[in-house]
Amino acid sequence: MSGHPKSSQLKVHHEDTVAPEDIVDLFKIAFIAELYSNDELADLQSQIQTVKADLYNRDYTSAFGNDSKRIAYCCRWSPSRATAYASLFAHLKEVSNVMRCTDGDKNILCVGGGAGGELVALASLFAPSRNFKAKYSKVATEKYSLNIHLVDISDWSNVVSRLSEAIRQRWLYAGESEFFNIQFSKQDILTSDHMTLGLAKLDFISLLFTTNELFAENKAQSIRLLQTFNQYCKSGCYLLITESAGSYSHITVGTKKFPIQFLIDTVLMGKRGEETNSPWTLVQESDSTWYRGDPQLDYPMKLENMRFFYRLYKKV
Ligand SMILES: C[S@@+](CC[C@H](N)C(=O)[O-])C[C@H]1O[C@@H](n2cnc3c(N)ncnc32)[C@H](O)[C@@H]1O
Repeated sequence: MSGHPKSSQLKVHHEDTVAPEDIVDLFKIAFIAELYSNDELADLQSQIQTVKADLYNRDYTSAFGNDSKRIAYCCRWSPSRATAYASLFAHLKEVSNVMRCTDGDKNILCVGGGAGGELVALASLFAPSRNFKAKYSKVATEKYSLNIHLVDISDWSNVVSRLSEAIRQRWLYAGESEFFNIQFSKQDILTSDHMTLGLAKLDFISLLFTTNELFAENKAQSIRLLQTFNQYCKSGCYLLITESAGSYSHITVGTKKFPIQFLIDTVLMGKRGEETNSPWTLVQESDSTWYRGDPQLDYPMKLENMRFFYRLYKKV
């Protein structure tokens, strides 16, 4: 387990992934109509303002409430998320080994992953490990599959299918596409059962910028979800949680207030000092990690730098 770094910085471009300019280009290709036609761009900008107001009011149901808003969110925020997550996944060797699936098929669950940031980041690691088109071609590996299940309470199917199409067209040869499987399910993770989620087969679960929302929706069900992970995930499965650095809301237990992170750690690993039979171990953590994007990237909207907290757990 690594220590408690005060503030670390991820590489702008980790050499194991598709370059940030190509990641951003993928969004331009998928949403060319919205981003590059004057009329549609004006509409997109106005939708972004509405989504921003919804997010500010923490009204997530409204923020992701229709296709125009979801496309607006994806165009505005997912490219920066995808470049940051690509660098983070590559930085976490345990995670990048899963993406490259060198020793068998791998199954991934992205909770709250409908907006596509995780999907594009996963593809940006998978593609170069295969016969990637053009300049990223490296060694051909055994033909194992990466199966990605995106579960989200909002209907991101249009966004996911446009990004998937762009990934297949631009980053993967026809022969490789069949090994990169994407499934999107519109469902509430808090009421999904372990069979539907296929928990026992998973190699990696991501909960990126989603736990705060889940706990805001229903604390008891959120705790139950983590307990279900404890019960059904197989040994060796990884679980990655990120949230804005310092953003965790607090929860009252008895007479004391704790950050939600404390509660999550307790559910996954037991009380501090009593972790001997804990379901998960902490592999890596950072309370503050920066991803500062390349300011030269060509994209018609602002690309955000990100500072976030992360924890990577491994099932015992
Ligand atoms: C702040 S967004 C984060 C999106 C993405 N993970 C990222 O990092 O860019 C939170 C996502 O969680 C989804 N979400 C919220 N509650 C959920 C639930 N109960 N079940 C499944 N998804 C949920 C939202 O619809 C939204 O897509």
